Amino acid sequence: MIGNFTYCNPTKIYFGKNALEGLKEELKKYGKNVLLVYGGGSIKKNGIYEKVVAALKESGKQIFEDGGVMPNPSYAKLCEGISRARAAKADLILAVGGGSVCDYAKAVSVSVHCDEDAWEKYYIRFEEPDCEIVPVGCVLTMVGTGSEMNGGSVITNHEQKLKIGHVFGENVFPKFSILDPEFTFTVPKYQMVSGIYDIMSHILEQYFSGTDDNTSDYISEGLLRSLIHSADIAVEDPHNYEARSNLMWTATWALNTLIAKGKTTDWMVHMLGQAVAAHTDATHGMTLAAVTMPYYTFILPYGTAKFARYAVNVWNVDPAGKSEKEVALEGLSRMEAWMRKIGLVMNISELGATREMLDGMVKSTLIMDGGYKVLTEEDIRSILSASF
Ligand code: NZQ
Ligand code: ZN
Repeated sequence: MIGNFTYCNPTKIYFGKNALEGLKEELKKYGKNVLLVYGGGSIKKNGIYEKVVAALKESGKQIFEDGGVMPNPSYAKLCEGISRARAAKADLILAVGGGSVCDYAKAVSVSVHCDEDAWEKYYIRFEEPDCEIVPVGCVLTMVGTGSEMNGGSVITNHEQKLKIGHVFGENVFPKFSILDPEFTFTVPKYQMVSGIYDIMSHILEQYFSGTDDNTSDYISEGLLRSLIHSADIAVEDPHNYEARSNLMWTATWALNTLIAKGKTTDWMVHMLGQAVAAHTDATHGMTLAAVTMPYYTFILPYGTAKFARYAVNVWNVDPAGKSEKEVALEGLSRMEAWMRKIGLVMNISELGATREMLDGMVKSTLIMDGGYKVLTEEDIRSILSASF
């Protein structure tokens, strides 16, 4: 490990069956006014809403509701949320939902007391908050993003055709997160599988970079093995508590900053996926799955040794008698077969992308420089073209 770093994760986790019992303990720490943020209504169907509202009432809180947060939360919705939080004089923002709801809550939290335009400040100029930040707590209902224990907040601006994530610092991380694996049992299979791939992609974005011997990469390999094992079980048996709990905890560790320590990171699969989503509004994990094989096939020659290590340590490829490149390619093909088996979408046309959108998607792709090759616009065009 050759990189320097600091490490601190301030989010308190309550994990397991009945983890919601921890909510009342946490609520004691905050004022009376709670902005209750949730999505399109799944929590009202599966009973989570009732349980959360009961805990809030028993704790003497005044509840202000902000429902209807959509997957890939929009800038327009963010503006509405800022007004609601201001009107409520919110002391706490309680996000009950998946990554979209948690991300949105964080975006509201840094904007309530900010006089500037939130999109311009945080998502175009990437500035840090210099105002009071309203604390956020999460009750997680869908697994994948890691938003429950990180500072990530992704917002989509439909007018500008941009989907951009700001990774805020520890001051914006949720103060607490409630993780009950049983809350994820009602997630539809398409969303569950999409979340599983989001987890895998987060780990790989941090793994495929650097050439030094780094503890973070060994942790990543362990997380990947656990992920693949539990995903196979959960796809067959979605109510398997052991598998769903492993997936939940793996998702959290995949993107709570730990496995990026001491190394550079890539994130180009996410940049390509976000460009696709900015034009199609497709489900996050599926956009990543659809661009992965074309991207990894493209960069493999620049990082062959790491791809070969991945093949052996994660996909159990036997390297005996094979060249490094052959081992690396066999790893990718085992990964591809697994992706197809669990039901991931493997091309962007299935997500609604058309050839007419290609120029726009190329323009919307932010170029990062931490991976094995810094892409040019032409590289991006050819990777996206190969994703149809
Ligand atoms: O809106 P409701 O009705 O609640 O339904 C949601 C939504 O339709 C449903 N759902 C969630 N929990 C459920 C459930 N349905 C039944 N039972 C439950 N228990 O699932 C659908 C998807 O939810 P969403 O929150 O959009 O999914 P996800 O957790 O994948 O979040 C995606 C968002 O997070 C961003 C993505 O870009 C996207 O905007 N990301 C955030 C990151 C971060 N904070 O670090 C990193 C990621 O890379 C990602 O970019
Ligand atoms: Zn992601």
